[in-house]
Amino acid sequence: MIDIADITKEVETLLSGLTFQNTEDLKVSLLGRKDGVLTSAFRALRELPEAEKRVVGPQLSALREKVEVALKAVLDQHADAQIVDLTLTAIPCETGTLHPLTQTQQELEDIFKRLGFVSYLGPEVETEFYNFTALNIPENHPARDMWDTFYIKQRNTKGERLLLRTHTSPMQVRFMQQHKPPFAVLFPGVVYRHEATDATHEHTFQQLEGLVVGENISFAQMSWTFETVLKQYFGSQTKVKMMPSFFPFTEPSAEVAISHPDFRGGKWLELLGCGMVNQKVFEAAGYPKGKYTGFAFGSGLTRFAMMKYKIPDIRMLSENKIEFLKQF
Ligand code: DAH
Repeated sequence: MIDIADITKEVETLLSGLTFQNTEDLKVSLLGRKDGVLTSAFRALRELPEAEKRVVGPQLSALREKVEVALKAVLDQHADAQIVDLTLTAIPCETGTLHPLTQTQQELEDIFKRLGFVSYLGPEVETEFYNFTALNIPENHPARDMWDTFYIKQRNTKGERLLLRTHTSPMQVRFMQQHKPPFAVLFPGVVYRHEATDATHEHTFQQLEGLVVGENISFAQMSWTFETVLKQYFGSQTKVKMMPSFFPFTEPSAEVAISHPDFRGGKWLELLGCGMVNQKVFEAAGYPKGKYTGFAFGSGLTRFAMMKYKIPDIRMLSENKIEFLKQF
């Protein structure tokens, strides 16, 4: 027994309540395999005598077609909404940040760039000549003890002794051999020291070297440069002072210290070494004697970063702990 009028009515009632949100439910109620209204009717149809089948069958088929058309229409209408549901909350997506040392390097480079400096990179495996000899640190000279050096067993093709550069200063001579003054350049890079590590010492760290050469470069220009750059980087409250020092590649040499109320209660903190380029270095680079003057400086980028971000232990900068890095 199939009451087609009854079924039609039921189907129509269900369809009249069709929305995008309940398409799935309605599909189950009408066409669900187990007891969908139409599925059950089709199942009952099998039991009917042939003559009735021929009448009721097409009627049921027409109803099913009607349901399918209605469902498809609703789904098509909402095709876009199915792809992007703007009411859903976004899945949190973590973005990385630049390493604090990279940020420090870029910030300083930006400040120096406004003063006309450009950056160059050089090799980390260096010859004894560029790392020491050309910088007025001859073999067997006690000044070499200023840098604890990692030597490399293998020599280069010219038979020269190789080492991991202990500072970025070798780039001074490499650069001068290939460029004529005037210029103002920066050499950022990684350096290595054969040292025991603790909270303030690392065997591997980063330096920022600078070199300005021309026909009339003065100590006053050097001092103005540091005053300008350090105040821009650390803030206008920064005080900058210079103290006499010694480096074989500069004469005279100085140490630059800064004091800022936010850093260790305004204590003077040494930040970089500098000086007027020693004429011996110009000679090693092949410049004519007495023609140029210049100033150079070298500083631990690591120091800058530790001060600016108040990082208590230098080793945190190379441990790559995600909890640490996430703060920058
Ligand atoms: N190279 C020195 C060091 O690592 C730092 C330095 C001092 C660099 C004075 C310079 C300079 O260019 O003029 O200890």
